[in-house]
Amino acid sequence: MIKYFSENKAFMISGRSYSYCMYVNQSGYLQHLYYGKKIEESDIAFLIKTHGKSLEPCAHDINADMSTDRMPTEIGSFGKGDFHSATVIVRRSEGDAMSAFKYVSHRITEDAIKLNRLPCVRKADETLIITVKDEYSETEIDLRYSILNDSDVLVRNLIVRNNGTTDIDIKKAFSFCMQLPDNNKQYSALRLAGAWANEMNPVVTPLAEGTLRIESTRGYSSHEMNPFMAILQDSCDECSGECYGFNLLYSGNFAITAETHHNKTVRVQGGINDYMFDWHLSVGEEFVTPQSALCYSNAGLGGMSRAYHDFFRECIINPTYVYKSRPILLNNWEATYFDFTDEKLYPIIDEAGKLGMDMFVLDDGWFGKRNNDKSSLGDWYVNDKKLNGGLNSIIARCKKNNLKFGLWFEPEMVSEDSDLYRAHPDWAIAMKSITPSRARNQLILDLSKKEVVEYVFGAISKVLQENEIAYVKWDRNRDMTEFYSNSLLPDRQGEFAHRYVLGFYDLAQRLTTAFPKVLFEGCSGGGGRFDGGALYYFPQIWTSDNTDGLERAKIQWGASICYPLSAMSCHVSVCPNHQTQRTVPLETRGAIASLGILGYELDIAKLTEEEKDKIKEQISRYKQINNMILQGDLYRLSDPFISDYFCVLCVSHDKTKAYIVGERFHSSVSIQNPILKLVGLDENTNYRIEELDIIASGKALMNVGVPYPWLHECESWIWHVYEYTAKWRN
Ligand code: DGJ
Repeated sequence: MIKYFSENKAFMISGRSYSYCMYVNQSGYLQHLYYGKKIEESDIAFLIKTHGKSLEPCAHDINADMSTDRMPTEIGSFGKGDFHSATVIVRRSEGDAMSAFKYVSHRITEDAIKLNRLPCVRKADETLIITVKDEYSETEIDLRYSILNDSDVLVRNLIVRNNGTTDIDIKKAFSFCMQLPDNNKQYSALRLAGAWANEMNPVVTPLAEGTLRIESTRGYSSHEMNPFMAILQDSCDECSGECYGFNLLYSGNFAITAETHHNKTVRVQGGINDYMFDWHLSVGEEFVTPQSALCYSNAGLGGMSRAYHDFFRECIINPTYVYKSRPILLNNWEATYFDFTDEKLYPIIDEAGKLGMDMFVLDDGWFGKRNNDKSSLGDWYVNDKKLNGGLNSIIARCKKNNLKFGLWFEPEMVSEDSDLYRAHPDWAIAMKSITPSRARNQLILDLSKKEVVEYVFGAISKVLQENEIAYVKWDRNRDMTEFYSNSLLPDRQGEFAHRYVLGFYDLAQRLTTAFPKVLFEGCSGGGGRFDGGALYYFPQIWTSDNTDGLERAKIQWGASICYPLSAMSCHVSVCPNHQTQRTVPLETRGAIASLGILGYELDIAKLTEEEKDKIKEQISRYKQINNMILQGDLYRLSDPFISDYFCVLCVSHDKTKAYIVGERFHSSVSIQNPILKLVGLDENTNYRIEELDIIASGKALMNVGVPYPWLHECESWIWHVYEYTAKWRN
């Protein structure tokens, strides 16, 4: 619900359990008032009187301009006494950039507002649009707030408009600005940091005076830093306390900053990274920033995660797929790498069929003359030296085994040794005068060019039209280094990074629209582009190249802080693991992979009969709990980063059944009989835990708990919990 109080020029946005309040102060600025647990509409006057007025700038005192520095604002201006970093910086033709963004008008619309060329929420109950104008120029900005009444996520972005008579340059245009005004609180910041094969480590550090900035400058959201930050109040833990999430629905260079002022207030802002960013805005044009998803929780980090999971499932992920069972697939990458022929693939396909899988996916190496990673990216036609019968014979073999067929592409890349590069060397990102940086022997296609997007769309469409393909794995295996397009004027190169992302979104939009029956899985050498923007096109994303049963549990734990289990593609691979050399029991690898979209990635034809039986069993059990993975509520019970165990619980909405997976991380004898208290069940329901053959009330399971199973390191357990009186149903 969005409410405007005309007598106070104030706004109150209310979601499921939060209120977000702001008002137009006596100087005309949009001043932030409150963001936190839900309060009453009638409280707005109290808020202004007690929390607003004292922080207002001294409007009638010409010697008091600097007082804007302490004003909590919804959009930071530049150069007039507010010494925080600004939210939007616009340089005008005379070279000046001072600004004072003041309220002009507002309107409230029903529903969400579609963004042209950017991913955006698919639905909203209401959207508030507040227009502010720069006091010193004709630059206007719309601040947008979209809500769902039954959600704790608030979606924000802004739009910069040049209403003047001369062109302007946008030096910075973040998507949101928000100030946590309570200077009695000690805040900490959580981010999901990592590296290739080690994504999404939750790192928490206290905030202190100065700026904490997380960012990507790699052209993509990156393995190293997810476009997400949470600010936690001192008492916040997994199950209780207050926290705020800030998630950017964007897949390119981003920045989120938390600026602790000398008076201890914290201004949080984020959006497209302003580093080397520069956007020329001609007279009459507008610039649309990506959306950001803010979340308030008073039920700890777990509450925030569940709110984000609901949000991504309800508002971002393609509704055709979001709650639909996804195929359990066999991917040949770690089974064969580049070394395959159709003859070599047949036994793997046959075995996948026998074990009850749904799909076979042919990964990298099927096209051009690609036998290693040195050639052929861009040549999206079959390597018939490897696949004698083309894709047809592989697809026929799949059909014979009742399997669907999926195919790997890396649409954004080109090898210098490729027909595509030989025909269009100028389509690769490179400056004539500077040798381009190579990574994995490849260059990046310049997707800021329409003709390049058109070509890639055509080439991939042809393969999808000519073959029965039910799934595409869309990979991306290098970071961007040269931020340059030979189609942009010298003074427009600062636009390149964002224009590339717009090209990527255009291509993804066109392909997913043209082939609505094809499930597109995102991938970026694992989780290098695991973000809310990519999730709009890809209902599932390959979470990491690290499939080690121990490390992978940590990666999925981190990813679950923001993203739903149904977004995580998770495979069982061979041991010793190819990334870590560790050997982890097949049961554990299966248990961890079942906490997402299950798949397999090993030469199953080489497994023993006993191992095959175990996989068969994993698949049939997974099919029983699949709905909980797609729709359930996640509770993280034991943190593998700080304890001896990993354990999570996924419960159905009606709380009649739950799925628990745990793993022993460290063997330590210091704690005897540690107890695991379950969370998220119904206190007044009796449950049976199938594997333990125990029956207990929700009250007992949550307050008394259950002893952890006695296990060796890397061993795991699965408990199926269900309402005692009800039959197990999916
Ligand atoms: C990186 C991906 O993450 C892998 O799963 C695999 O598809 C390779 N690329 C293929 O080159």
